Amino acid sequence: MFYVTTPIYYVNDEPHIGHAYTTLTADALARWHRLLGEETLFLTGTDEHGLKVQRAAAANGITPQEQADRFAVRFVEAWRGLGISHDDFIRTTEPRHHRAVQRLLQACYDRGDIELGRYEGLYSVADEAYVTADEAPELERQGRQVIRMEEENYFFRLSRYEQALLDWYEAHPGFVQPEIRRNEAVGFIRQGLKDFSISRTSIDWGIPLPWDQRHVTYVWFDALTNYLTAAGYGSGDPAFPVRWAGARHLIGKDILRFHCVYWPAMLLSAGLEPPQAVHVHGFLLVGGEKMSKTRLNQIAPASLVETFGVDGFRYHFLADQRFGPDGEFTFEGMVARYNADLANNLGNLMARVAAVVASKCGGMGPAPSPRSPLAEAAARAYEEAAAAWGRVAPSEALEAAWRLIREANAYLEANEPWKMEPGRQVEAVLGDALEVLRLVALLASPAVPGAAAEVWSRLGLAGAPEEQRLPAAAAWGGYPGGLPVRKGPPLFPRLSA
Ligand code: ME8
Ligand code: MG
Repeated sequence: MFYVTTPIYYVNDEPHIGHAYTTLTADALARWHRLLGEETLFLTGTDEHGLKVQRAAAANGITPQEQADRFAVRFVEAWRGLGISHDDFIRTTEPRHHRAVQRLLQACYDRGDIELGRYEGLYSVADEAYVTADEAPELERQGRQVIRMEEENYFFRLSRYEQALLDWYEAHPGFVQPEIRRNEAVGFIRQGLKDFSISRTSIDWGIPLPWDQRHVTYVWFDALTNYLTAAGYGSGDPAFPVRWAGARHLIGKDILRFHCVYWPAMLLSAGLEPPQAVHVHGFLLVGGEKMSKTRLNQIAPASLVETFGVDGFRYHFLADQRFGPDGEFTFEGMVARYNADLANNLGNLMARVAAVVASKCGGMGPAPSPRSPLAEAAARAYEEAAAAWGRVAPSEALEAAWRLIREANAYLEANEPWKMEPGRQVEAVLGDALEVLRLVALLASPAVPGAAAEVWSRLGLAGAPEEQRLPAAAAWGGYPGGLPVRKGPPLFPRLSA
């Protein structure tokens, strides 16, 4: 089972391209694994409890539930607008989630890992986290409000899990990827772990502790558990263990500590295995800074979709931003990449092949030659793309597919079929180019599902790329020939800079 998750996003904020980045990456991965014929569960959703949401609701003059309802819809709509293919959308205010959280809390409590204590100290509302006096000035400089808190809290005995976590990391070298993030997590654990507070009495917008109703669950304990809820934890669903065994979390580096330290400890405490892997990416920066509500530098996905289309949007963020390091977003860069890769490379290949099939082959696409000079390049593209998706490197997977496009364009330029007389020779060249287009439609479909389906249909093929199964469908020679090829309007109209 391939079970891929995104963070669940806070409902105090509008969806922006940073949220879209993680969600798109998970979507493309899920689509790739479906192509491989794997059973796939792709989960996203919204994080709806806590002080931050309670305050946003108060500022909007509505109840926290109204705030959650209103903003959860914004995320659902944003994902619909980007062609996101999630199988489940979880909201932490759902009854199924309450049950799972209470079940997990009880399991940790029964294990003796949750104890009553007092907390006195500083709290960052934006981060929903206690912070140290050292961390406070930097957060305040960023406009993140830090308040003093003093209350009776239950604590999770994280300090007991130092060794167990280090052992887990040792035994599971791929648990946190990339390596630099793994080292960061291990370094944090080695510094020594402090118990963390898991309940609040000062707010009521949350899930009550099963053994003490005066307390509601701390947002992070609540939020992280969403990944279990959607897999069926606490519901008696017999498929839970199979789903959970395949879990992979995609997150931004801002929430590494919660996912790579707190979460595996909570799971071990409850007698559950940590997930297969946590894949951590960097930030999309705008004007050199992380997008945030306070900086007013957020970009709504829909505003870019207007200009670039859904596939243009999807392609850009998957291809341009390497999964891992930070990357700067610019509109100019997006136009340049769109024109180069989509309008020119892919769009031109489709257009010129269809045009020459029309003029030299009466519009009927010929079959590829079994020993085409492009066959080897195609096999390499598949191998490289498969390996790249396997290590969660979408930009590299797409680079492999686009290399194949460039090779096919170069092959056409070298052979100039448009100058040939109709006959066997021109058919061989065009058949090979059509086969490359078929393969490219498959390889690119996780990123640009709409354009891939369009290419598929212009080639005269029945069905859609997502109905194919890899690796069989990637074998050279799948294009049968004898199908009507359609030129159609430009796949990606050129944009002026
Ligand atoms: O942290 N670049 O929710 P959140 C790239 N509710 N990714 C970005 C980004 C940027 N500039 N800005 C946001 C929370 N993201 C918690 C999560 S999970 C159990 C609970 C993405 O709404 C990235 O995935 O603040 C980041 O980790 C996430 O949005 C934070 O979303
Ligand atoms: Mg955040």
